[in-house]
Amino acid sequence: MLLFKSRLSAELKKVLDNINDAHGLDEEKIAQMLEYPPNAEMGDIALPCFKMSKSLRMSPVMISEKISQELEKLEICDIEKIETVNGYLNIYIKKDYFAKNVLGNVLEKGEKYGSFDFGKGKTVVLDYSSPNTSKPFHIGHLGTTVIGHSLKKLHEFAGYNCIGINHLGDWGTQNGKQIVAFKRWGNKEEVEKKGCDGLVELYVKFHEEAEKDPSLNDEARAEFKKMEQHDPENIALWKWFLDISLKEYKVTYDQLGITFDYYMGESFFSDKMDDQIQIMRDKGLLKLDDGASIVDLSEYNMPPCLILKSDGASLYPSRDISAAVYRKQNFDFSKCIYVTSAGQSLHFAQWFKVMELMGYDWTDELVHIPYGTVSIGGEKLATRTGNVVLLKHLFAQAIEKVKAIMDDKNPNLENRDEKATAVGVGAIVFHYLSNNRIKDINFVLEDALCFEGNTGPYAQYTYARTCSVLDKAVGIDRSAAGSYEINDKEKALLRTISLFPEKVLQALNEYEPSVITRYILDVCTAFNSFYHDCQILGADDESAKAFRLNLTEATRHVLGNAFTLICMKKTEKI
Ligand code: ARG
Repeated sequence: MLLFKSRLSAELKKVLDNINDAHGLDEEKIAQMLEYPPNAEMGDIALPCFKMSKSLRMSPVMISEKISQELEKLEICDIEKIETVNGYLNIYIKKDYFAKNVLGNVLEKGEKYGSFDFGKGKTVVLDYSSPNTSKPFHIGHLGTTVIGHSLKKLHEFAGYNCIGINHLGDWGTQNGKQIVAFKRWGNKEEVEKKGCDGLVELYVKFHEEAEKDPSLNDEARAEFKKMEQHDPENIALWKWFLDISLKEYKVTYDQLGITFDYYMGESFFSDKMDDQIQIMRDKGLLKLDDGASIVDLSEYNMPPCLILKSDGASLYPSRDISAAVYRKQNFDFSKCIYVTSAGQSLHFAQWFKVMELMGYDWTDELVHIPYGTVSIGGEKLATRTGNVVLLKHLFAQAIEKVKAIMDDKNPNLENRDEKATAVGVGAIVFHYLSNNRIKDINFVLEDALCFEGNTGPYAQYTYARTCSVLDKAVGIDRSAAGSYEINDKEKALLRTISLFPEKVLQALNEYEPSVITRYILDVCTAFNSFYHDCQILGADDESAKAFRLNLTEATRHVLGNAFTLICMKKTEKI
């Protein structure tokens, strides 16, 4: 549709120029004004004429009529008819355009359908997931993990070279707390055996004990200080804890089909601050405040940005500054995207500003993408009180539920475990990515695990349906497809399929994977409605059968491509 739209915009521009060149619109603006009507009775593409009314000094109704008359004269190919309704210009596109151009294009491009190459030669760094080691990997991290990965896939689809970085929170007093807890109450075998759970138990125990004896907090700071001074015993413990956490994260990432190009977290940057501090000093940006070094941002209506602790150690913002410079130097990015909860928006605004004040002229390439916070039962997540849902438990529950359904419906399914993981985890991902990212979420387990209606399993099931039709059609001659006259259901499906590239652009521009999730549902609805009404393999006409197989194949491509963009696995048979 993108091609048709730009052709149409060019023609509309000419027509408008003839009517009155005071309209002040270029082709791009006209393209932006074009809308896709919600149902087929209102045309395939429409131009609302209200905004032009002022500059053209005509009523929207008159404008639409005038444009319609002029357009008719041009006899633009692929337009079937033009209607004007209440200030809208409704354009109906010939069925043949969908049956030949759109379908042909999808089949030719296949796995590349919907992709672009405008990102070629440019690098985008994406910083996402980035859990704090020592704390549990929970539902609060689902957003950064799946939104981040989806943005990576979207950028790759636009031709960018993408680098995914897991900026682990692996260096801070919390690691000191863990060491105190282990030294006091831990034992090696138990931690080995329990993995992350063992570490979290120690972390929780630390907080319980510190309530009674606050001096434990000083002890934790002292242990962390020793880490910063490279104390071999503490560094060995810290590395061991880190390995345990990473091993477990990787199981979850694996289930999601996510890999990172780098695990390069805060510890890596903790001692790489010197050059940046020097620049801040040279520019007179650093101020002492109670022994700590800060950058005053009151002029920009923000609280000060903390750069160094009183003992000279780096902090979260200063590590982010050194990481940004490191990434710019090593990866030469044209954009560096940070995906975190909206709770960190101030943090990013602060250090972006500091970098600007330091004189870096590429700070507009740093992009913070916030998402809404997650609560459970209306309450904030809190490890200490146990108000958390661990991702591994959530995924395990979803997978179990799928297995039970599979055992009931399809007991002889091959690779059952692998498929149950794809569907179970896919259900959670789809559920999460259905909402606008900025919306706060009250997580309800039953909703996430509900597979009825507009859900991930429904989408994956539709995909599997296209695969099974095509499996049965191997060897069927499809050469007669071209002579088939398509019906309204088929046109509606093709029209939906034709919107995919624009949805990809929208998702990219708005950093909004939910555009793709919702689009998947549109495709599924259109396909299932077609499937319900039209016989595919059972069609009595050879050309209908051939065409419908092509249409099924196009649906499979578009769904498969869209699944990949929201990190949902493709399921051939379920
Ligand atoms: N570790 C942080 C957290 O769990 C997120 C890190 C995001 N990335 C960054 N470069 N600051 O909240």
